[in-house]
Amino acid sequence: MTKNKNKEFDSLISDIINNEHFLETKRDLHHGTSKYEHSLRVAKLSYKLAKIFKADIKDTTRAGLLHDFFLGTRKEKPENSYLRHPVTAMNNAIKYFDVNETQAEAIKTHMFHQVLLKKIFPFINRKEKVSVKEFKPKSKEGWIICASDLLVSIIECERFQFSYVANVMFLLIINVIMFKN
Ligand SMILES: [Fe+2]
Ligand SMILES: [Fe+2]
Repeated sequence: MTKNKNKEFDSLISDIINNEHFLETKRDLHHGTSKYEHSLRVAKLSYKLAKIFKADIKDTTRAGLLHDFFLGTRKEKPENSYLRHPVTAMNNAIKYFDVNETQAEAIKTHMFHQVLLKKIFPFINRKEKVSVKEFKPKSKEGWIICASDLLVSIIECERFQFSYVANVMFLLIINVIMFKN
């Protein structure tokens, strides 16, 4: 990123990355890195994509940073589970930051690719129940967070995973269909 873009990006997230509660995400391991680092990568990519796709830069960047704002691992508590943690992250984001509706929805729907995967293959995470309607991104910002998280996760995962590549392709196709006009 250029110096000016860096400045803009930093100004959008400075209150969050210096917040004592958010700093606790540095302790949590996520995709082989810290949740803090993962969230920062998603925020950076979301910021860049927001510029390309003319989405709201502030909403996209902040939602990208807060999308995994839950403490502890996904296995520790039911509310941190694979498909429920977006709701926990959204509630934490609302509790500690000035989060608007677009940001809250984008955080809540960032695992939509996995929700769809579960509908196709119900044996995945059998105990979890999720609704496609509830967890489908409602805005361009939401789709960007969803795609950014998936792309960053692929890069972070140590081993090449076919399911992730299939997910990305699927998501891109949906994006093209949704925004072709
Ligand atoms: Fe997540
Ligand atoms: Fe994530």
